[in-house]
Amino acid sequence: MANRKPYVGGNWKMNLHRGEAHALARQLRQTLTMADKVEVTVMPAFPYLIEVAEILKGSAIKVGAQDFYTQANGAFTGEVSLSMVKDCGCQVVLVGHSERRHVIGESDALINEKVLAALGAGLEVILAIGEKLDQREAGKTDSINAGQVCLGLAGVKAEQMAKVTLAYEPVWAIGTGKTATAADAQNAHLAIRKTVASLYGQTVADGVRIQYGGSCKPSNAKELFSQPDIDGGLIGGAALKAVDFKGIVEAAL
Ligand code: 13P
Repeated sequence: MANRKPYVGGNWKMNLHRGEAHALARQLRQTLTMADKVEVTVMPAFPYLIEVAEILKGSAIKVGAQDFYTQANGAFTGEVSLSMVKDCGCQVVLVGHSERRHVIGESDALINEKVLAALGAGLEVILAIGEKLDQREAGKTDSINAGQVCLGLAGVKAEQMAKVTLAYEPVWAIGTGKTATAADAQNAHLAIRKTVASLYGQTVADGVRIQYGGSCKPSNAKELFSQPDIDGGLIGGAALKAVDFKGIVEAAL
């Protein structure tokens, strides 16, 4: 059996102002003593990356960026480069989140460029995928996920997969209070792992972590995380309160 270290990400999205972000980072630093047994990354908004990374420096909690642009520098108004997010203390970047796909309008091609650029820059990548409600109802969950995995990872080499985590986030479950049942989530994760196996072979597929995201909270995390192919979670709303996030990290132990 594969021995995958559980991995929980806290995606703070466009939430928490400066003082709140500092306070949450301090609380997590004090209370997440199990972070050496579970990998933990928090992703604050850009303006607070440096300060949150400073607060978490020397702890087991990593800091990630929710987005970045693929180019190294230059005339890209409003964008932030990978070397800038690294400079701010980030080790991880999130790519392909459904809000970037469906609200901001990022294409699979751009998502793939971002994955390749981030890996090229030596960063860890969390690649998020997931189907919309109409796609689920049309029975297309697995084919949508497979397509997003194949397009997102195009050109990624097998040896780079050690730096890639996948996050299955069914769009209809994000921020809605509707969670996939543990059985539905497990089925989707297993199918995603099979897609990875078809691309890179079983050893890589057995090693890759697949997080579940979508209305994950302390009360449902344990059942989700106890599924054989669910290796932790990518958390939105419940990542904004230290006590809830801690409960979820503990559920991943
Ligand atoms: P919620 O946990 O708020 O549903 O958000 C999940 C998510 O999108 C994490 O990236």
